[in-house]
Order: sequence, then structure tokens, then C-alpha cells
Amino acid sequence: MRENQKRLAAARALEEVRDGMRLGLGTGSTARHFVELLGEKVAVGLRVTCVPTSEITAEQARGLGIPLTTLDETPELDLTVDGADEVAADLTLIKGGGGALLREKIVAAASLRMVVIADESKLVETLGAYPLPVEVNAFGLAVTQRAVEQVVGKEGEGGTVRLRSNSDGTPFLTDGGHLILDALFGRISRPKAVAEALQDIPGVVEHGLFIGLCRRAYVAGDAGVRLVDA
Ligand code: A5P
Repeated sequence: MRENQKRLAAARALEEVRDGMRLGLGTGSTARHFVELLGEKVAVGLRVTCVPTSEITAEQARGLGIPLTTLDETPELDLTVDGADEVAADLTLIKGGGGALLREKIVAAASLRMVVIADESKLVETLGAYPLPVEVNAFGLAVTQRAVEQVVGKEGEGGTVRLRSNSDGTPFLTDGGHLILDALFGRISRPKAVAEALQDIPGVVEHGLFIGLCRRAYVAGDAGVRLVDA
């Protein structure tokens, strides 16, 4: 059911893709549907050049014969299509559940438009029930974690900050070789203040709050796909 909704949202976003476009390809189970559908179009002649936001998406796209490039070769993209972990009504997002937030944000910021695809479970009134992924440098981890905890203490509702780990207990490493702290705020009533406070911590590489980057969301639910514009 939910997979079907993700696919429907992906199919709607695909309608925005035109021949010759430079695309950013997101990461996660919803973006995976988009890449799969894009691959079908490429197989029958659609010409696009794409920058993937993770190694896993790059691998999927290569397998489907989707031409890939880098931001160094193609610094401006027409459209990025990606999933999200939480979507607020103004299209402020929490992203990074899949650990690709840094590349996702770099790619979204290099795009003329970012469009999010999601099933309706991702729509929230207030962000923060989903733990906010914060990508951090391994050096000085304890100091960085303490500083992130202070931001949660000030801006959130008494949540926890946990180092993300793999199923075998080893620390999860991002494609950039960094660690992730999952910061549970409970509620984020002031996303901008949280973003600024996190960015001020020297050990923080990037955080998963996407503010002012996403212009449109295709949200799939029981009644079909709804368009949300910012
Ligand atoms: C990847 O790092 C994330 O930002 C994903 O876009 C987000 O976690 C959504 O993933 P799903 O589509 O799998 O829910």
C-alpha cells in the first residue's frame, strides 16, 4: 500500500522531467521508485544527465543505464527529486533517515527546483517527532554530541541524541566518511533557530533540516496524489 503510494508520487514527479534535463537523484525507498521509473524512460530514448545523492543511488542508476555526471562537471541542475522523512506544510523538511543528507542538500541547493515525493505519512503539522539526523566529524565526537544535546534541550521537548549504528553495532558511516547523531527534538517549533544553532557547532558537518529548498511536494494518499506548493 505505502510502496504503491510512493510509486504514484514518483510517477507524478516524473511528469516534470523533460528531454535534455540535468537532474538530481535522491536517496531512499521513495526516490528509488523515481529512479526506476526514470530508467524505463531512458531505456526508450529520454535524454537526461543525473547527479546521484549517494553511492547506493549511483549504483541503481548505473544498473538502469541512466547517464551520470558530477556537480564538478555540471554545477547547475534543473530539477532534483528526492524523498523526505518529515514534510511540514510550508515544505520545510527533515531528511537524512538514509544518511545521505549532506549530498542531498548540496545537490538540492545546486538545483533550480527541488521536488519532494512522499506518501502522506510523512506530512506533519510540526517537525521533530522524527529524529533529526546531524552529520558530524568523528574528531571530538563527545564534545559535538554535548553541544547538539544542548540545542535539543533548548529548542526541543527533552529528547535524546544517539549515535547512529549499523545492525552489527559498528558506527554508521556516511558516504563522506562522517558519523550521524540522531537528535530527537519531539517538536521543532523554530526550525531556523535550530538550524542556526546546529550550524554554529564546529563538529557539525550538516544537519537534515531543509529550509527554503523545496518548492513542491507530491504527496500520495488514499485519495490519490496531492500537490503541495510552497
Ligand atoms: C535519505 O538520506 C533521506 O533523506 C531520504 O530521502 C528520506 O530518509 C526518505 O526516505 P524514504 O523514502 O525511504 O522514506
